[in-house]
Amino acid sequence: MKTSSVVEAYYAILMLHSLFLYFIIISSSHLSVTLADDEIKSVVVKNYTRLQLMSAVGPESLAFDCNGEGPYTGVSDGRIFKWDEANHAWVEFAIPSKSRRREWCDGSNRAETENICGRPLGLQFNKRTCDLYIADAYFGLLKVSGNGGVATQLASSVANVPFMLTNALDIDQDTGLVYFTDSSIFFRRWEIAMAVLFGDKSGRLMRYDPISQQVTVLLDGLRVANGVALSKNNSYILVAETGRTRIIRYWLQGPNAKTSEVFAKLPYFPDNIKRNARGEFWVALSNGQGRVQRSVEAFGDSSSEIDLRSRTSALLGVSTPSMKDAVAIRLGEDGEILEVLNGDDKMVQKPVSEVQENKGTLWIGSVVLPFVSSVDSV
Ligand SMILES: *[C@@H]1O[C@H](CO)[C@@H](O)[C@H](O)[C@H]1NC(C)=O
Ligand SMILES: *[C@@H]1O[C@H](CO)[C@@H](O)[C@H](O)[C@H]1NC(C)=O
Repeated sequence: MKTSSVVEAYYAILMLHSLFLYFIIISSSHLSVTLADDEIKSVVVKNYTRLQLMSAVGPESLAFDCNGEGPYTGVSDGRIFKWDEANHAWVEFAIPSKSRRREWCDGSNRAETENICGRPLGLQFNKRTCDLYIADAYFGLLKVSGNGGVATQLASSVANVPFMLTNALDIDQDTGLVYFTDSSIFFRRWEIAMAVLFGDKSGRLMRYDPISQQVTVLLDGLRVANGVALSKNNSYILVAETGRTRIIRYWLQGPNAKTSEVFAKLPYFPDNIKRNARGEFWVALSNGQGRVQRSVEAFGDSSSEIDLRSRTSALLGVSTPSMKDAVAIRLGEDGEILEVLNGDDKMVQKPVSEVQENKGTLWIGSVVLPFVSSVDSV
């Protein structure tokens, strides 16, 4: 689709709310779940703990530094915080740009100022240099030293096409190569539900080489490219294709290098992917309700909200009882579902944007909640 037709279609939908409902039905009708109930093991949630943020919200992704300290997380006002375990408090670690204005941004949770405040989404440390790499939705691919401070911009476009929604990254710890996604070249972060509902397919998986400082496009045409994770020996990389509720595997080495295939089909929309020490993958899942709800609020028509919510859940309609409340799944190296993490209001509150396993603890991020949470795994 050309830019102009996407923009036209977008505004047509903005005006025709009923058509919007229709699009949800069309775009969601292919979803299905194939798993039998008794095949799926659920995480027994123990020691659910919340690390409450003091200002701003939405700790979307998490990272641990080269000394194993953290977690670090990026929040709604553009800042990156580090959890200081000794003092049991969050401390400011970095900001995404020197143009960020503290008086406007600190503590902010407003979509309108995100483009000047920044919104760090993907985080990962290079474990050799101790630098933190950041996928910021507005400022692109960034890097800040292990001492924190103001991040440096490494890339904000490729082949003259600017990044519109830089979303997630992972790092090959042997070579320092950085793999990252731009979800769409048309839609901004707060419009991501629209990009999904429209079937936008301008998402890209890219690689940044820290030596040549060049960006290479590995895959394009993705329907809302989201989380990424390298395999344990870096022979392939996974990328979440949120708009098609699936995960793609792109081979980096071996006979299939430079080819891709479907790795897993999922019952819900996948968000961030994080590999654990055993080489398995935790995939955060969203049923779209929070984001769809906010898109509807942006229409200023809250009367249809309940209807829309019930429609989306009916359409994504997971028949398998044990997957109904899934907020994340653990996938094996062949894409098989090994375990499900369920959410409810008291234990593992929704929505969940990331689950990261670190030394026996599952750390849980959320794009809207005011805390990072954790549960003991196994
Ligand atoms: C519960 O989890 C917190 C956070 O990970 C940890 O600091 C604490 O030691 C855990 N408590 C128990 C009893 O394991
Ligand atoms: C990487 O690991 C997979 C198994 O997970 C194996 O089949 C493959 O040969 C390995 N590749 C390299 C280059 O070691």
